[in-house]
Amino acid sequence: MRVVLVQGDITAEAVDAVVNAANSSLLGGGGVDGAIHRKGGPEILAACQDLRRSHYGKGLPTGQAVATTAGRLPARHVIHTVGPVWSRDEDRSELLASCYRESLRVADELGDRTVAFPAISTGIYGWPMADGARIAVETVRAARTEVEEVRFVLFDAAAYGAFEAAVGDDS
Ligand code: AR6
Repeated sequence: MRVVLVQGDITAEAVDAVVNAANSSLLGGGGVDGAIHRKGGPEILAACQDLRRSHYGKGLPTGQAVATTAGRLPARHVIHTVGPVWSRDEDRSELLASCYRESLRVADELGDRTVAFPAISTGIYGWPMADGARIAVETVRAARTEVEEVRFVLFDAAAYGAFEAAVGDDS
């Protein structure tokens, strides 16, 4: 698997699947989630509402992942996953790793070969960037998956630098 680092806005990525750092309601929020729903349009929210009705009455549990259409985004699918909150969740490192693993598992089910990830939990959910980057890189590299390219799309230079260090440390 190729691991590629990009600095920019994940909603612009023309990949098979873009991963959304969602919350368990699946009904939108700020950060990456807000940007994906804004740019992808109402089709994504409608698909999320269907999922809530059909499968996730109590919401999508932390560490799990589920796919919808990508609406007007250049990607084919959005894979929504719920990261742990740094200050709240027990077993938080395992849950963060699970977000990456489960997203790749869903991508495999869909036949998606290129997947773009944000730095899950490192914004509103408060995870320290260096540690979040380490878990992200270690987990995707260790995953058994048919995905051929993982693109980490980092919003700013500091996040990009943290992922560069994690990729270097782990190689
Ligand atoms: N493209 C790439 N990265 C981005 C973008 C973007 N367009 N926008 C923000 N980031 P966050 P979380 C970075 O807060 O911490 C929402 O309200 C950001 O700088 O989006 O998992 C959800 O509904 C940070 O490094 O996700 C949940 O309630 C990283 O993406 C909650 O936030 C993740 O930040 C989830 O919090």
